Amino acid sequence: MVKICCIGAGYVGGPTMAVIALKCPSIEVAVVDISAARIAAWNGDELPIYEPVSTSADVERHVSEADIVFVSVNTPTKTRGLGAGKAADLTYWESAARMIADVSKSDKIVVEKSTVPVKTAEAIEKILTHNCNAVNFQVLSNPEFLAEGTAVQDLLRPDRVLIGGRETAAGRKAVDALKDVYARWVPADRIVTTNLWSAELTKLAANAFLAQRISSVNAISALCEATGADVSEVAAAVGMDGRIGPKFLTAGVGFGGSCFQKDILNLVYICERHGLHEPAAYWKQVIEVNDYQKRRFVTRVVSSMFNTVSGKKVAVLGFAFKKDTGDSRETPAIDVCKGLLADGAAVCVYDPQVTEDQIRQDLAAVGEPMRQVGVARDAYEAAGGAHAICILTEWDEFKALDYRRIFDGMQKPAFLFDGRNVVDGGELRRIGFIVYSIGKPLDPWLRGMPAVA
Ligand code: NAD
Ligand code: UDX
Repeated sequence: MVKICCIGAGYVGGPTMAVIALKCPSIEVAVVDISAARIAAWNGDELPIYEPVSTSADVERHVSEADIVFVSVNTPTKTRGLGAGKAADLTYWESAARMIADVSKSDKIVVEKSTVPVKTAEAIEKILTHNCNAVNFQVLSNPEFLAEGTAVQDLLRPDRVLIGGRETAAGRKAVDALKDVYARWVPADRIVTTNLWSAELTKLAANAFLAQRISSVNAISALCEATGADVSEVAAAVGMDGRIGPKFLTAGVGFGGSCFQKDILNLVYICERHGLHEPAAYWKQVIEVNDYQKRRFVTRVVSSMFNTVSGKKVAVLGFAFKKDTGDSRETPAIDVCKGLLADGAAVCVYDPQVTEDQIRQDLAAVGEPMRQVGVARDAYEAAGGAHAICILTEWDEFKALDYRRIFDGMQKPAFLFDGRNVVDGGELRRIGFIVYSIGKPLDPWLRGMPAVA
């Protein structure tokens, strides 16, 4: 019987191992984590596919018994030292690798599941072999492409599974062993094998391409507002070109999440380290346009409301970086709230999934005093007595709110700034709102107001 252990029970490790366990009853799967709170949360969860996986804080035992060890620890952007603000922080990875070396008594395949810089496998091989020469290690790169909110679907029916390994007999054997695991539910033509460096780089490149599409459509959204074009119409027609395709062309207040910015910064850093300054500048621009889009939204709000939001209540509907997740890492809502608070607004946030503690923690982390921050239990409470509403996450429930009731309870003129194009602007204008929808023809009220930060 093959034994698999995954180090890191986060957004990737938890669901990935649950799906492997579900699809491979003959494989014993354990997920371990140094965070007792994380393990307790998994054990308390009611995920239907949770059953077959054992989650444990007994990291060393499970790792020492496993044949295949997935490492799915966090790899955030470095905050200090060499490469601060750009390079990936591999502290967690390195400590996991050292621990694997310390406890291993049998040969192991070590799988990079975390997103890492190109050439990390080489460093990991060195750590493993220099600290434990009694056993053989094969390091594979098997990056994860799941998106939050659709993790299980993505894992059950992946566009592709990518496995990179050394081009040696032992490397090929290890690749085949991991391929056998996925082959139990993924069609053979969707399992792609490459060399190690291609697999590592593909993950960074894929995220950069996806984010680049969003920045492209967001850049076009600014031009739409200036010209009277409608970004939804433009994106739909552009996306009908088979070479371009319709996905990931939705304009909004900017992309967030734990991956896009971190991975592009990492890509930029790697380019610079290789002296490739033009490619570095090219990819950096994807992040700069994203920052511009967030600033542009705040400027639109402030300039529309007589050039100040000082002392005005602004309801923020949605704090998660996208719908169907409670994750607020790098959410555009943080920057938008920061901008509004800087102009003196009193912000009242409602999100169906992000907890009050998390919202306060995120805003405190960017230096915002809590005096001007409220957190509401529903959208009606958030909007009560407000001068404006900003929709920052595309939660379905925001489409079905009773906007007549909300309008009646607001200060007049009542503004609604739709950062995700979820509401029907025409309908809301009939109720009496002044509506701004990203990339759509502007209300007469908003025309002529400065829109660029
Ligand atoms: P996460 O922060 O949710 O989970 C990482 C877990 O690893 C944490 O629970 C932490 O306690 C644990 N950990 C850290 N060091 C450890 C150690 N030495 N031993 C045991 N446990 C340890 O992170 P995540 O979102 O699951 O991301 C993990 C990796 O996967 C990152 O590299 C990320 O870039 C990549 N990734 C994430 C996503 C996503 O949607 N979140 C998608 C694809 C790839
Ligand atoms: C992303 C990648 O999609 C996934 O393949 C990778 O493994 C991890 O990073 P995730 O961050 O979970 O996944 O969510 P995603 O659906 O990609 O959305 C990221 C951000 O882009 C969100 O803030 C979302 O609102 C925004 N977005 C997405 C847009 O603004 N427009 C779009 O058309 C699509």
